[in-house]
Amino acid sequence: MAGAETTFREFYRQSIDRPDKFWAEQAKRIDWQVPPQQICDYSQPPFARWFVGGTTNLCHNAVDRHLASRADQPALIFVSTETDQEQVYTYAQLHTEVQRMAAVLKDLGVEQGDRVLIYMPMIPEAAFAMLACVRIGAIHSVVFGGFASGSLATRIEDAEPKVVVSADAGSRGGKVVAYKPLLDEAIELSRHKPRRVLMVDRKLAPMTWLEKRDVLWSELRAQHLNDHVPCTWVDATHTSYTLYTSGTTGKPKGVQRDTGGYAVALAASMDLIYQGQPGETYFCTSDIGWVVGHSYIIYGPLIHGMSTLMYEGLPIRPDAGIWWQLVEKYKVTRMFSAPTAVRVLKKQDPAHLKQYDLSSLKALYLAGEPLDQPTAQWISEGLGVPIIDNYWQTETGWPIMTIANGVEPAPSKFGSPGVPMYGYHLKLINENTGEDLVGHQEKGVVAIEGPLPPGCLQTIWKDDERFVNTYWKSIPDRLVYNTFDWGIRDEDGYYFILGRTDDVINVAGHRLGTREIEECIAGHSQVAEVAVVGVADALKGQVAMAFVVPRDNHYLQDDAAKLRLEGEIMKLVDGQLGAVARPSRVLFVSLLPKTRSGKLLRRALQAVCEGRDPGDLTTMDDPAALHQLRSLFT
Ligand code: PRX
Repeated sequence: MAGAETTFREFYRQSIDRPDKFWAEQAKRIDWQVPPQQICDYSQPPFARWFVGGTTNLCHNAVDRHLASRADQPALIFVSTETDQEQVYTYAQLHTEVQRMAAVLKDLGVEQGDRVLIYMPMIPEAAFAMLACVRIGAIHSVVFGGFASGSLATRIEDAEPKVVVSADAGSRGGKVVAYKPLLDEAIELSRHKPRRVLMVDRKLAPMTWLEKRDVLWSELRAQHLNDHVPCTWVDATHTSYTLYTSGTTGKPKGVQRDTGGYAVALAASMDLIYQGQPGETYFCTSDIGWVVGHSYIIYGPLIHGMSTLMYEGLPIRPDAGIWWQLVEKYKVTRMFSAPTAVRVLKKQDPAHLKQYDLSSLKALYLAGEPLDQPTAQWISEGLGVPIIDNYWQTETGWPIMTIANGVEPAPSKFGSPGVPMYGYHLKLINENTGEDLVGHQEKGVVAIEGPLPPGCLQTIWKDDERFVNTYWKSIPDRLVYNTFDWGIRDEDGYYFILGRTDDVINVAGHRLGTREIEECIAGHSQVAEVAVVGVADALKGQVAMAFVVPRDNHYLQDDAAKLRLEGEIMKLVDGQLGAVARPSRVLFVSLLPKTRSGKLLRRALQAVCEGRDPGDLTTMDDPAALHQLRSLFT
């Protein structure tokens, strides 16, 4: 697959020049019921169909196929510092639990192709539910537990799930967050009504029950304790899941993933990028509500026969040593986190890092947002292992750029996520002319020539047109996939990511659309106009800042009234979208900086907030808007 003597350069070239041969070889990493007849069908660009004719099953590859050799090996290690629980499931036990869940879902009427929406905290039942869905060919759609009823409602409406799986509550920093009321409200708001709601009762929050619709996991599980539910073999191109992510409109995009391509891509990445060994423990600190959680808490490590550690809790509770304690206890070899989490730890006593035996740990991978040098340096010195940045997106499902030390060891450069990964025919493009940038140190849009490699999105759920128009038609005269990130390449071929080209912001590694937040705030009766921008923040990378033009001018003069309205707006966002989307501040102005044609000058707004020069303002309608803004920051 990657021969011992292969250089990465050669490996990469083969993946681009002879993709069929390359991926046919990688496809051997997983079990197929029927092997693929065609490696890639790209007859209808930009829609790529990988491993056509092959049939397989994600759950079989993640669980069943390991039973012969690893039945008693831990598969899922669950640790919650919120509820003080620790529970290890071997592959055999995981197999049993997943079958019970699959039997329950079938009992509730779920069939192949049906959607199941999973709105859950980080508990084992969430993993059982995901695996159970793909086991029977149902399509899961996990919604991050930090989202509130409005966000949840849009996703329910779009995914049209037959069943929702949820729990009474999540818990964060010891504070219980009841999920059921949010879920009930979301279903109320949504035009689509799921037939059944399967609730896991953690006994953290009381639940009101809707007879005929709501059913209890513990009760149904008891009826299916010994059920055998075989894996349903599905086409490689069968959709395994959808996962919503933010874009530039208020409506989130349902990223749609296949089965065979995803399994192959993850299996390859576990070896070539993350260098895990079957039998070792992998610890990814993300959440199952995000793509990193899908790929590297659940599917990747399990497909690779590793033990995966699922952690519910904060990195600093009971103290900032908790992650390192787990690394020691479970002999974690590969760990995956986000720069924000490391910045949070960096503010704590560094002695926590030295308290535990971390000799098992071989590398730490960070992704989701730019990795700044002080953070990388601090953690690299503290752990004494390589820190490996990886750049990718919900859309791609696995790294676009990083260092594939499993192919050929290569140095990392601070500030750079590395080089393009095999399968990604990467380009830097001039956004106006659509031409390739060939020189070094020239800033361009990071784009990918089709076909996208296995594992990347098939399309946007129910919206092929949006898939084509959003990602593939935004660069003049070119059918290339637009990442919407700026990038630059140095003379060694290493890339540096310079931020988004669109209105998507990145708060603590969470991707948020400013439009969504604006639409929510605009719903307040006292708000005439609103603009939300992402502003640089030392801890979270970026935070959302909202600028509001109130309907009534008295808010501009009255500080107490301003404070009250700010509080109301924050509460509105918390209630509709969730605390992740809450702006760090709401500032009140009488007008927003706009062009003469009425277009909001977002960049100028952002620049002023960050104390930078707002650049060319010749198109600005009324300079008073900018003066007013500046006065807010002096
Ligand atoms: O802007 C890039 C940033 O996060 C976006 C993707 O976010 P999301 O869909 O949530 O997927 C996260 C999967 C890791 C990208 O368009 N981003 C992600 N990783 C990096 C990054 N920016 C800089 N460096 C990274 N390593």
